[in-house]
Amino acid sequence: MPKKTKLLPIYVLNGPNLNLLGTREPQVYGSTTLPEIGKRVRDRARTHGLATVFRQSNHEGELLDWIHECRAKGSGLILNAGALAHTSIALHDACRALGQPIIEVHLSNPYARERFRHRSFISAAATGVICGLGAAGYVVAVDALAALLKD
Ligand code: DQA
Repeated sequence: MPKKTKLLPIYVLNGPNLNLLGTREPQVYGSTTLPEIGKRVRDRARTHGLATVFRQSNHEGELLDWIHECRAKGSGLILNAGALAHTSIALHDACRALGQPIIEVHLSNPYARERFRHRSFISAAATGVICGLGAAGYVVAVDALAALLKD
């Protein structure tokens, strides 16, 4: 029997202000905190046999470093870049260079909000995009990434 190769962990990266989830505009982003989302993500990933690296940063450079780290140490990326999705060509380029499946996540539906949220630099580099489902979107993203990694 060939030995089953174990996949490297999936990276779940969260950008600016997402550390405030739970108290930040709950009418827009819901009342689930980021640590709670992290637990749901980890539990769901485990059902697919996947380990998780779950992190948040308010700094673009740190997010870039973690995407680079994922190239060597991860197997796929779930990214909620927060407002940087709408501004960061550097994150776009890092995603392009990743060479792994990427699911972009937003808790809210940016297309139903202000015009400046309608453009995402991540979407053009992502395999798929999930938005508007609140915290549940992260769990859907784990399922989607697991399916892509199985293929
Ligand atoms: C967000 C949407 C962005 O427009 C906003 O800047 C955020 C959160 C979301 O998850 O809905 O910080 O990425």
